[in-house]
This record gives sequence, structure tokens and C-alpha cells, in this order.
Amino acid sequence: MNAGAVDEPGFRALTQKIAAVRGFSCANYKDGCLRRRIAVRMRARGTPDFAAYSLLLDRDPAEFDALIDTLTINVTKLYRDASVWDLVAETVVPALFALETPAVTVWSAGCSSGEELYTLASLFHAHAMRTLNEAKLKRVRIIGSDIDRASLESAKRGAYAAEAFSEMPAALKTRYFSAEAPHAAVPEIKALVDVERRDLLSDPPPAQGLQLITCRNVIIYFGRESQEPLMRKFHDALAPGGFLVLGKVETLLGPLRTLFEPVDARQRIFRRAA
Ligand SMILES: C[S@@+](CC[C@H](N)C(=O)[O-])C[C@H]1O[C@@H](n2cnc3c(N)ncnc32)[C@H](O)[C@@H]1O
Repeated sequence: MNAGAVDEPGFRALTQKIAAVRGFSCANYKDGCLRRRIAVRMRARGTPDFAAYSLLLDRDPAEFDALIDTLTINVTKLYRDASVWDLVAETVVPALFALETPAVTVWSAGCSSGEELYTLASLFHAHAMRTLNEAKLKRVRIIGSDIDRASLESAKRGAYAAEAFSEMPAALKTRYFSAEAPHAAVPEIKALVDVERRDLLSDPPPAQGLQLITCRNVIIYFGRESQEPLMRKFHDALAPGGFLVLGKVETLLGPLRTLFEPVDARQRIFRRAA
């Protein structure tokens, strides 16, 4: 049987096991997306149905790891969707640097293996250098969080294969990453970054009064009923006027539009409305 096929009880039993054993609550994710992802692993292991796959998970923890990896979909890149980052560099970063607040705290929510974090760190550092404002960098803290522990280990290392840089301007890559592969983030930008495990749907934000939240290519996998409380959580965690950057294919649904004002709707950059 193909995992996309009905077998509702088998599917439910499997998702309950995933939640009970690994704390990954499938209820928040879109069913079709989950079924397709589980089917990928079932095909890879040649298991005929959910029940057989569930038994395989009991005896093979490595398969459980592979399944969680597949479910969390952690593909990412440095400077992914370059036009968004160009605009963040031109508008958001200078606006945050101009603030007189004692701290500028940024949260990359669902940072996967950290490419988004180091993209942000390189933009903040580059702006400080350009404006001869290095001292102000001390106020900047960029917190990356993700649910997936393996991704977070990579985020802590901050070293990437050449392909991860295909969208990043060469000047940033050369300045902020080692010349040899894997290209490691230099200490100046590593110092700006912290990494922690956090489930976006059940854990609180890492801080309040945040100046910028990026949550890109994450909510697209969440059901509508999970998106709304998450966006309210982001709204409440942002300082008034704080920025929110979503992924290129993500939108604010219905009533959520009143919580944020568009800075550039096409590039999915918003600000907290009062
Ligand atoms: C496609 S990646 C996005 C990475 C990066 N933001 C980007 O746009 O390139 C999606 C990430 O969301 C994380 N994720 C999924 N559900 C999550 C949850 N409930 N809490 C925290 N992170 C979650 C996954 O582990 C994965 O690393």
C-alpha cells in the first residue's frame, strides 16, 4: 500500500507513536505533507504499510532519526531568495542600527542548520563596518532556534559546503567564511549568534521586545489552526515596529493581517502594527 492511501487508523497510530517517542507533534502539520514525507521513508525501506513501518521504527532508531529528518524538511541555503536579503540589508538592518535601544535582539525561528543565522550575522557585521559603528555590534544578538537537534549541531558548527553559497554575494562569502571547504563562519560573526532548541508551536519565544523575527519556509508546513497562534506569539514577542520576515511563498492569513503592516509585501517583510 502507498502511504498516501487511506488507512486512517494506521496513519493515526503512526503519528501518535512519533509524538510519544520523539515529541514531534504531527497534529500541527498538514496531513498531505506528512503522508508524502512518511511515504518517502516507507518506500526507501520497502515497508508495505504503516503498521509494518511502525514495527521497523521500534527496532531501528536510525530509521526514526531519518524519518524525523524527513518530516522536518531542513533544506536551506545562505542568502536564500537573494532579493529578500538585499532588502533586509538596505532597509531593516540600518533601521535596527539606528535604534537607541540597549539591545537589538533577532530571532531566526526554524533556522535549520544555521545558514539563515549566519546570513543575518554577516549583514549586521557588514553594516557596522560600512558605517564605522563597530561598537554598536555589541548590542546585537541573533538567536537561532529549531526543533531538530541534528540541524542545530550543524548550526553551531557554522561550516558549509560550497553549494550552500550559490545565492550569497561573493564579497560576503569571502569576508565572512574561511577560504577552504567546508567554509566556516569567521569568529566575528559567530560571536553574534546563539543557537537553541525550541519547538515553535509549544515553547515560548527566546525573548520579548525582539526587533526582528525571521520565520521562513517553516509555517508553510503547519496547518492553518497552528499558524494563527504562532503569528500572535510573534506579534507579542516583537517590540512595537519590530520586523517580521516570512518565506517567499508564505502569507499572513485573514485576521492576522491586522497584526502586521507590510513593509514590502512581495518580499514578505512586515512590521508589528502598534
Ligand atoms: C525548510 S527549513 C527552513 C530553514 C530556513 N528558515 C530557510 O528558510 O532556509 C524548515 C525548518 O523548520 C523546522 N521546524 C519544523 N517544525 C518546527 C517546529 N515545530 N519548531 C521549530 N522548528 C521547526 C525544521 O526542523 C526545519 O529545520
